[in-house]
Parts: sequence; structure tokens; C-alpha cells
Amino acid sequence: MVKRQFPRPSELAELMRFKAPTLDPVRRRLDGALTIYDLRDIAQRRTPRAAFDYTEGAAEGELSLARARQAFEDVEFHPSILRSVPVVDTSCTVLGGPSALPFGIAPTGFTRLMQTEGEIAGASAASAAGIPFTLSTLGTTSIEDVKAANPTGRNWFQLYVMRQREISYDLVRRAAAAEFDTIFFTVDTPVAGARLRDKRNGFSIPPQLTLGTIINAIPRPTWWINFLTTPKLEFASLSATGGTVGELLDSAMDPTISFDDLAIIRDMWPGKIMVKGVQTVADAKLLADRGVDGVVLSNHGGRQLDRAPIPFHLLPNVVREVGADMEVHLDTGIMSGADIVASIALGATFTLIGRAYLYGLMAGGQRGVDKTISILRDQIVRTMKLLEVENLAELGPQHVTQLTRLVPITRSAVDAAERVTAR
Ligand SMILES: Cc1cc2nc3c(=O)[nH]c(=O)nc-3n(C[C@H](O)[C@H](O)[C@H](O)COP(=O)(O)O)c2cc1C
Repeated sequence: MVKRQFPRPSELAELMRFKAPTLDPVRRRLDGALTIYDLRDIAQRRTPRAAFDYTEGAAEGELSLARARQAFEDVEFHPSILRSVPVVDTSCTVLGGPSALPFGIAPTGFTRLMQTEGEIAGASAASAAGIPFTLSTLGTTSIEDVKAANPTGRNWFQLYVMRQREISYDLVRRAAAAEFDTIFFTVDTPVAGARLRDKRNGFSIPPQLTLGTIINAIPRPTWWINFLTTPKLEFASLSATGGTVGELLDSAMDPTISFDDLAIIRDMWPGKIMVKGVQTVADAKLLADRGVDGVVLSNHGGRQLDRAPIPFHLLPNVVREVGADMEVHLDTGIMSGADIVASIALGATFTLIGRAYLYGLMAGGQRGVDKTISILRDQIVRTMKLLEVENLAELGPQHVTQLTRLVPITRSAVDAAERVTAR
């Protein structure tokens, strides 16, 4: 029998903990977000469909992206115990300089489309967090304005080598003058991937007003007010306009770029140079002999070749082959700090976040990007504490195995797969 009694007013008073309401709507929204997926949901509610889909979407059946995320979800961690780890150090050295966290912001094109603060929000948030920011050739903010937003932090420039080579060379010179310290030479975009969502949405640059977009705009007034009352949305470094992103990419990109172009940029550029979009061990090995400082294992967030290799699966083999000679970075599919910890454990020097940053941006401008970084930071710190490692250098392959749909891959199966790849 349960004994019952009347609640005493003093006991009731103890239970009552009414929080003062948060009047600032951006803060209210962001405070409720605990994961990057929460930020994604807020972003979707606030951004017109065509812009949201341009950001979230990938190529063809979007298999590359789904598989990359699945690979991270299939990570199994192996924690140590009783190591006494009261604090953890998340900082690292990347490309000859410091980063407070083992990730930076990836280059993304047309960023002011997602939210009007665009690259300035990304660069300012990166500056505040002490992590690097990468500006895309297809950015909507100039090299010089990014430098002004992140004057003392680290800025990186992503380069597309275009049909008109002089345009690219001029950008390289400007990035050097603005003291960007690294170039990311993207190599996975000889032509645009088939972004079917953009086609279905009739998405074009600049965005067109149709009956559909106007109906879709009604519940998203802030985005539209921002769009209509701020400087025109256009590429900061290119003059090409008009058409879908795919058409613009195809008109600007040159499918004949080659190792010769890489050599030219290597000679022009005074800083570090990374090749972004490497997808085989063989190419990573080739690049190790070409005077580059590292590779980014990436399939462009699944936006180019669909069914491309999963960067996280490629990582251990590439690290084994070239990890002693150059840095190995990784992106595609990162949605949690645990994904980053797993990548570092398998030998990545550093990681980059694309959509995770853009979801924050769409959810709340710079404060949203701050929130993305703080969610990832908290997840990294917590995962490291639970693994009982004090710093990133202590993370190793012993901390991670891969499950495929909950079936552990045995070491012998991995060895067999590697023998096949090596043949
Ligand atoms: C909207 C969007 C635009 C992008 N634009 C570029 C770009 O201009 N240049 C580039 O090298 N990569 C670009 N990327 C790829 C990112 O740099 C990065 O490789 C990718 O987003 C990583 O995957 P994630 O989004 O799952 O983190 C873009 C990605 C997105 C989502």
C-alpha cells in the first residue's frame, strides 16, 4: 500500500522553478538546440526551400553523403578506465599554426544565400573560437572583407582553377596579400555534380521569384527581409551570374585541369597548399611526391560524384601510406563532435565542417555558427573525457572500431580488404 499525504506548500514551493522568459528570439531558438540536427531543423523552418535544399542536398541519389554519415554512426568507441582525466586539451597544430579545436570551417559557395551574414558570420565565429576559416572561390564575401572579420585568426582560401586561369591566379595573389596562410586546391569538381534538388526546385542564381517561391516565403519573412534589404547576392570574386549552380560551375570550371596546374599554383603561392577532394590511396601517394603539404579526404559532402568512397573508410589506409609525409584532413558527413574524435583517432590531422556550419548560420547568423562550434566542442570534450584521453595526441586506432550494421568487422576482414586494394 502506498502511503499518501497532502503536499505541504513549502515542499511545493521547492519544486517550482520558473525560468525568466528569454526575450531575445534568436537566443531562445538557439538555446533549445542540443545537436547539429536540432540546428538543422531550425534552419529548415527559417530558410526558403530552394536555399535550404541547395545547402542540404547532395548529388544524384545522395548516397555518398548518407554512406559517409552511416560510417560515422557505425563507429564503436573503446574507452580506457581509471586514468584520472579532470581536464582535456582539444587544441592542435595544423598546417604550421594553432587551432583551439580539431576542426575548421570548410569552404562553401554562395554562403550569403543561406543567411545574409554569410561568410562574415563564419569568419567572426571562427575568430572567436580560435579555429581556421576557409573562404570559397565561389564565396559571396571578398578575400579582404574576410580578413577584416578575422584579422588575427587563421584564414584559408579554397581555389577553383577556372577556364580563365588569370581569374584564379589573381585570387591567389589577393589571398597572399591578405595573409591567408593556406590554399585548398579543390580537385573533385571537373564538372558540376547532378544536384537534383536544385533542378526540381528550379533554383537559380540569383534566386527567381515565382508563385511557388512567394508562397514558400510567407512563413519565412526574416530571410526575405534580409535578402531584399542587404547588398545584392552575388559572387564576390567572379562575374558569372545567371543559371543553376550546376550551369555556373560548368561555365567556370575547366575539366582539363591537371597536375601542371597544381604545380603552377604551388610555385605562385608562398604559404601551405592542400589538395581537397582526394579519394584514393594511389592519388594521395602521388601527391606526397608533388610538394603539397597535405590532402583533404573528401567527396565534397556528396555533392559531386555519387557513390564515391567514404572518406572515413579511406582514412586509415591513406594515413598508413602518407601520414608520415604530409597532413591528412577529412570532411564529409560530420554532424557530431564524436565524428571528429573518431577521425582524429584513426589518424586524421584535422577535420572540416560544411553543412554543420551552414545549419548554424541559417538558424541564427553568427550566433548560430557560435552555437554549432559550441555544440561540437562540448561533444568533443565529453567524448574525450569518456574515452579518458587528455589530449588529441593520445587518441589512437585502439579507441575505434567500425560496425557495419552492428556486425563487427574483424581485423582479418579489414586486412583482406586492404590486400585487395593494394593489388
Ligand atoms: C552549400 C555547400 C557549398 C559548397 N561549396 C564548396 C566550394 O565552393 N568549394 C569547395 O571546395 N567545397 C565546397 N563545398 C564542400 C565543402 O567544402 C565540404 O567538402 C563539405 O561540405 C563537407 O561535407 P559536410 O557538409 O557533410 O560537412 C560545399 C558544400 C556545401 C554544403
